[in-house]
Amino acid sequence: MSSDDIFDSPTVEKMVNSLNRKWQIYPKDVIPMWLASPDFPILPEIKQALHKAVDDEDLYYNSDIKPRTAMAEKIKRVNNLQVAPDEVMIIQGVEPILWFAVKHACSEGDEVVLPNPMYNGFLHAVHDIKAKPAYWNLDFEDGYKFNEEKLKEIVNKKTKLICLCNPHNPAGRVMTKSELKAVADIAVDNQTRVFIDELWEDILFDGREHISLASLNPEIESLTATAWGVSKTFGVAGLYLGYMASTNKEMLGDFKKIAKLVQRGSNTLARAVVPIMLDETLDWWRRDLINHLTKIREICVKRMNDIPNVKFPKIEGTYMAFPRFDIGMTCEEIHDYLLKEAKVGLSQGTSFGPLGEHHMRICIATSEAIMNEAIDRMENALTKLA
Ligand SMILES: Cc1ncc(COP(=O)(O)O)c(C=O)c1O
Repeated sequence: MSSDDIFDSPTVEKMVNSLNRKWQIYPKDVIPMWLASPDFPILPEIKQALHKAVDDEDLYYNSDIKPRTAMAEKIKRVNNLQVAPDEVMIIQGVEPILWFAVKHACSEGDEVVLPNPMYNGFLHAVHDIKAKPAYWNLDFEDGYKFNEEKLKEIVNKKTKLICLCNPHNPAGRVMTKSELKAVADIAVDNQTRVFIDELWEDILFDGREHISLASLNPEIESLTATAWGVSKTFGVAGLYLGYMASTNKEMLGDFKKIAKLVQRGSNTLARAVVPIMLDETLDWWRRDLINHLTKIREICVKRMNDIPNVKFPKIEGTYMAFPRFDIGMTCEEIHDYLLKEAKVGLSQGTSFGPLGEHHMRICIATSEAIMNEAIDRMENALTKLA
C-alpha cells in the first residue's frame, strides 16, 4: 500500500464504525472534525511492537529507564537539548503535564501568561488551581503573531509562569526563532518560569523547522520545562504517552513529587513502542503525513475561502485550523447550525479563550474525500445564509 493509499483510505462508511471517540459522540450522519485526532490507520510497525510486548509478557511492575534513555537520545537529536534520562519523566499523555506545570508554579491568585486563543487543557489547569490567566492576545488579522511588546505589558511580579504551545493549537502557528527569543529574553529578565508544550513538533508545513525554546541558551533552559508526546503524529492517543524534561532540578523535583501522588508509573505497552516512535525508523511516515496534510490544507484554504464570510488561514503547523465565520452568529450558534444543516461537527472557538468567539476549530487530518465532503456540506449550509 502506498502512502497516498493509506492517507486517502478513510471513508465515512468505514469511519462510522471506528473506535475513535471523535466518530462516536455525534449521530452517524455527521462528519466529526472537532477532536485533534487523525482518521488514518495505525501503522503495522506500531501494532507489531505492541503484539511483541504482550507476547513477551511485558505487563509487570517494571523500571522505565529504557524508554527514558530513548527519550533523552531523541531530545538530544531532535530538540538539541542535553538531558540525562533522570531529567526525563514519562507521563500518561501530555494533558496531565499541563496541570503539573501550573500546580508546580502557582498558588491561588498567581498569574499565568496564556496565549489567547490557547489549547483548552491549559485553561482548565489554570482554572482548577485558581490561578489567574494573563492573556497574551494573538491577533487573527495579524496572522496570530506572538507580539513581544504585548508580552512585556503583561509580565509582572505576580507572574509565576509563562505557558506556551508551539506549534500552536488552535491557531496553527509555528513560532519563529525571533518570537521564541523574545519570550526567552522576557522570561530571563523577569526570572519567570516557562512551560512549553511541543507535542505538535512534527507537524510543520512549507519546510519550517521546529526550534525548542529551551535550546536557545542556558539561561532559558534553566527556567523551562518542555513536554512532548506521540498522540498527534501517530494517532495513538489511547496509549496515553507523554514525556517532559527539565534541567531545572527544583522544577523537575516538584513535578516528580506531584506526579508520584497521582500516577504510579507508566503503561508498559505504551513504553514498548517508544523506541520505534522516537528514533528515525518512522521518519518516512512523518514526511508522507506532511505531504498529505499539505494537500488537504491547500484544498481547505482554496475552497473554504470561497465560502461567503469565512476566513480560513493557511496554517503553518498542526492539523488544526481555526477559521473565522463572520455570519452574525456566536460560536454556539455556528456549531448548532453546522451540525443541523451541514451535518458537520466542529469545536467551538470560545473553549480556547475569549478571542475564540466567531471561530470554529477544524481537524483536517483526514482523507481528501472526507475533507471535500465536509466542505461541500458546509458550503451548501453557509451559502443559504449569505
Ligand atoms: C497542545 C496540546 N497539548 C496536549 C494535548 C493532549 O495530548 P495527549 O493526548 O498526548 O495527552 C493536545 C491534544 O490535542 C494538544 O493539542
